[in-house]
Formats: sequence, structure tokens, C-alpha cells
Amino acid sequence: MDIKLQADEFALIRRWVEEICGISVDDRKAYLIENRLAGLVAENRCASFGEFYQKFKNSCPPALRERIIDQMTTNETLWFRDTHPFTIFREILLPSYCQEIAAGARRSIRVWSSACSTGQEPYSLAMLLLEAMRNNNQLKRGMIDILASDISDSALAQARSGCYDKIAVNRGLPPEYRSRYFSDEKRLWHVAPEVKELVRFEKFNLQDSFARLGSFDIIFCRNVAIYFAEKFKRELFAKYARILNRAGILFLGSSESISLYSNEYDMLEHNKGIYYRVRK
Ligand SMILES: C[S@@+](CC[C@H](N)C(=O)[O-])C[C@H]1O[C@@H](n2cnc3c(N)ncnc32)[C@H](O)[C@@H]1O
Repeated sequence: MDIKLQADEFALIRRWVEEICGISVDDRKAYLIENRLAGLVAENRCASFGEFYQKFKNSCPPALRERIIDQMTTNETLWFRDTHPFTIFREILLPSYCQEIAAGARRSIRVWSSACSTGQEPYSLAMLLLEAMRNNNQLKRGMIDILASDISDSALAQARSGCYDKIAVNRGLPPEYRSRYFSDEKRLWHVAPEVKELVRFEKFNLQDSFARLGSFDIIFCRNVAIYFAEKFKRELFAKYARILNRAGILFLGSSESISLYSNEYDMLEHNKGIYYRVRK
């Protein structure tokens, strides 16, 4: 039996989903909730979305909560997505950090991939850092910290495993990087230990306080804020600004812009790629 989402149920479930993970489903996208959650409603022996809401809203088992998050998040990602952020990282940011290291003005590089999905974003950064280390012996492994976090358990499980099928491994990964940093076992491609060791994965909800995370030189917040309500976007960019180091950098997705939500950043451009520098 197909379980249909009624208008009054949509209002309740939409608010619940937003409370859990910040994802705001607008009026025209009720079908997203219907398509993605109907299976869970049936599995939990509820005859309607309304019954599901009444049964679990105030006492949701953690495992069910995680399933709701996994269903409602979109984990689309690929290696070196949109190219520009990674070019800017390699051509502008890394050389300037390396100069500071050589001058004794910097001891570490801290990067946060704050909605890392299945790991392609932080591992792409790790590969660029390994390339930079090959050419610069002052840049050492111990100086680098890449924190990669996401709210989705299933995305993080794949990210931590570092294993990708043939389709995933080929999306955006240059062949020379595939042969240098991956091994092929039983039709799965495994990220090399030297890449994995540079990345620390953690489950993290962007709605939570950033206080315990420390400060960062670069934050990637790519293709995630598009799912959030305006108010949450404003709060999020303000929270990033607080934990970015002086002149720290924020990268957004190629279709995203900060101008409506914050005036704490300067917009910079390099070869048509846009990035943001915190004003402090
Ligand atoms: C479309 S992916 C983007 C992945 C990567 N940043 C990229 O640009 O390729 C969006 C990710 O944001 C995560 N996400 C959604 N809401 C979140 C939240 N409140 N806190 C942390 N991560 C969240 C999802 O689980 C998903 O993996």
C-alpha cells in the first residue's frame, strides 16, 4: 500500500526534519518527504505519516533518527568537485602557507571539510597536500590536520572505509592520482593509507556549537547550505567566521553565494573561481 503524505502531516514532518538536521523542505517539495520517508513509515508499522509522527516525534530511537537523517540528506559528491576550490587551494593558499612555514610564521595548516559526505572532498585535499609535500620538504605531515565531518552515518561509514566502486572512483579523479593514491582490490578502489592518515572523520551536526572544534585556516561548506533555511544560513556563516583564523578562507558550492547572509567576508576571485576571506 502506498502511504500518501497529507498537507497537515507535511507541516508536522517538515518541522521535525528541520529540527533534526536543519534541512528545510519547501512547499513545492513535499514529494521529497513522501518518497524518502514512506518506507520508514511502513517499516515501523504505521498506517500514515501522522501516526509515525505521533509515535516517534517525542521518543525517537536513535537508530530511527539516523535512518531519517540518512533518508533526508543528499550525499551527491565527487573528486575535485567543480575544480576551482582545489585549484585555489593548490595555487594560492598552499604556496602562501608554505612561505609562512619557511619564514617561521606558521606551524600548522588546519582544514575542515564540514559536510564531507562520502569523503571525496577531504581526500581530494589530502592528495593535493601529499603532492605539495613531494615538492616542498618543509611541509610535513605532522603540520596538517584535515577534519572531515558529516551528519549522515552511512556517508561517514563509506568515507572512513575509503573504498569506492568503479563508478565513484572515476567521477572527477585524474587517472594519475588514481594510480598513485589508490589500489584496486576485488573490484573496489581503496584510498592509500598515506591519504587516509591525513584525514580525521567525525560525526557532526552543523546545528551544534563549533566551540570544541578549535580554529581553522580553511573551511569547506560546499553544497550543503542550499538545503537550509535562510535563518540557519545566517547563523552558520557567522559561526564559521568565529572559528576561522585571521584571513581564514571559506569555500562554498559553485551555485552558492554568501552575500545575502553575511557581511563578515570579502569575496575573492581566482581564474573565475570564487572564495571568501573572513574579515578579521
Ligand atoms: C550534497 S553533499 C555535499 C558533499 C561535498 N561537500 C561536496 O560538495 O561534494 C551534502 C552533505 O551535507 C550533509 N549534511 C546535511 N545536513 C547536515 C547537517 N545539519 N550537518 C552536517 N552535515 C549535513 C549531508 O549528509 C551530505 O553528505
